[in-house]
This record gives sequence, C-alpha cells and structure tokens, in this order.
Amino acid sequence: MSSTHEHEVEVAGVRHSFRVQGRQVPALDRIDLTIQPGELVTLAGPSGCGKTTLLRLVAGFMQPSEGAVRVGTRPVRGPGIERGVVFQQPTLFPWLSVQRNVELGPRLRGRSKQERAETAHRYLELVGLSDVAGHRPYELSGGMQQRAQIARVLANDPEIVLMDEPFGALDALTRERLQNELLEIWRATGKTILFITHSVDEAVFLGSRVLVMSPRPGRIVLDEPAVFGTPGHLVPPEEIRALPDYVDLRERVRVAIQQREPAAGGAPA
Ligand SMILES: Nc1ncnc2c1ncn2[C@@H]1O[C@H](COP(=O)(O)OP(=O)(O)O)[C@@H](O)[C@H]1O
Ligand SMILES: [Mg+2]
Repeated sequence: MSSTHEHEVEVAGVRHSFRVQGRQVPALDRIDLTIQPGELVTLAGPSGCGKTTLLRLVAGFMQPSEGAVRVGTRPVRGPGIERGVVFQQPTLFPWLSVQRNVELGPRLRGRSKQERAETAHRYLELVGLSDVAGHRPYELSGGMQQRAQIARVLANDPEIVLMDEPFGALDALTRERLQNELLEIWRATGKTILFITHSVDEAVFLGSRVLVMSPRPGRIVLDEPAVFGTPGHLVPPEEIRALPDYVDLRERVRVAIQQREPAAGGAPA
C-alpha cells in the first residue's frame, strides 16, 4: 500500500530562507507535500509567498535550508531529466527554428536525426505548431512561443513537468486556449504536472488537486481535489466554470488566498 512510486514527488519538512543583507528571511515555512504520478497539482498563492521557491527546490535548482525533496526514493540534488521546467517567459534559442529548438534535448541525448525529427513532429503536433516548425521564435506570437517551449520540454519526455506561471504573460483569450490545450496534453500523456499560478480561476480550472499557499513565509493552507478538468469529467470546458461545485471551490480558494497569516517570529500576539 505504501510502496513509493518511482516518480512520486515528495517534499518533506522543507523550510527555506534567503540571506538578504546579512539576515535570514524565511520564504517557505514547513512544507510537506506528496504528489502522485499523474496528478495535475495547481499551486496558487499571493505574489511573494514562495511558489517559485518551492518549484525551484523541486526542480533541483537549489537545496532547501531544511528538509528534503525526493523523487521516488532518490533525494533531489540537482536538475534531472525526469523533471522538465516550463518558465513564465519562453526560453527558446532565437537563432534556431522552432523545430530545432524542440529537437535540442533529444539531440543532446544523442538521439538519431530521424528519431529527433519524429519526436519534434509529435510534440509540435500536440501543441498545434506543426505548420510553423520552420519559423524562428521571434516570428511567433507570445502564445505560440509558450506552446513551443512546452513542446521543447515534453520532447525530453520528463515524467514530471514543473510549470511556473507559464500563461501569466498571455492575453485572456490565448490563456484560456492554452489552458484547454494543457488539459488535453495532460490527458494524452499522463504526465505529473505541478502548475504554479496566481490566478484562482486557473488553479481551480486546471487542477486535479488545488493547493493554496499562505503569504510569506509560505505554508500550504488548502489542499483539495478538483476534478473539473480531469479525464472522465465530460462537461465541456466552457460549462465547467458555471458548475456549482466549481464556483464553490473557487470561492474557498479565493478566501484561502486572501487569508492573512501572522508573520512568523515577528508579529506581537
Ligand atoms: N534569490 C533570492 N534572494 C532573496 N530573496 C528571495 C530570492 N528569491 C525569492 N526571494 C524572496 O522569497 C520570497 C518568495 O519568493 P518567490 O518564491 O519568488 O514567490 P512567488 O513565486 O510566490 O511570487 C519573496 O519574499 C522573495 O522576495
Ligand atoms: Mg513566482
């Protein structure tokens, strides 16, 4: 029953502080979190509450001040091929075509030319960019660049995809379209996704599970299943936002985000 899956993400007793002008400033309070394979976990919280810090710890870009991050039973000591990261701003090489950008990971791992091309085609198709494969990133809109970045990350076939407000810089219509696409990709690939957002609506719409973090230092103050976008939930996306259960959860998430927590170690009782 309790056997650890190879790609389960475990954040155990994690605290993190940053050294700012000689002082330790806490960014994350005690975080305990297990993400099961195949979950699409959305993490919402006010700006500055530590969302990116948590994602960077799971990505292995830095080590927690206290506690541990594990994938399966292996401690995370740095970035790994089983974890792909999608940033808010697309990170594409401007001198490479979209296709070459997507092929880069497979190329670095020594895949044959044909295999690379097949992989790129598959993922460009999945994100709806087949017809601009030969274009340079600067010829694409922001939304298309973000799609290309997602294809580039998926082409490495990571089990776990870490996304830090990937749609935050997009206009509302593009954002909604990409949200629907992400759900389709998730259904098609079964990836484990940790998706960070400061949008309540995005968190509730996308998540199979929604987490809310308190203001700094971040703690998880809400952790609830949200089945609206999950496979087998047959309501079309445009009707989901009107469902009573959806409206209800969105309200609970909204209240949780606005909750003021007393500052740790500082505020008088
Ligand atoms: N490299 C850093 N050095 C010092 N403080 C940092 C650093 N990165 C983040 N912080 C601080 O940690 C807190 C959490 O930041 P962050 O994780 O980026 O929050 P969020 O992504 O939720 O907006 C903020 O107060 C931020 O100023
Ligand atoms: Mg952030």
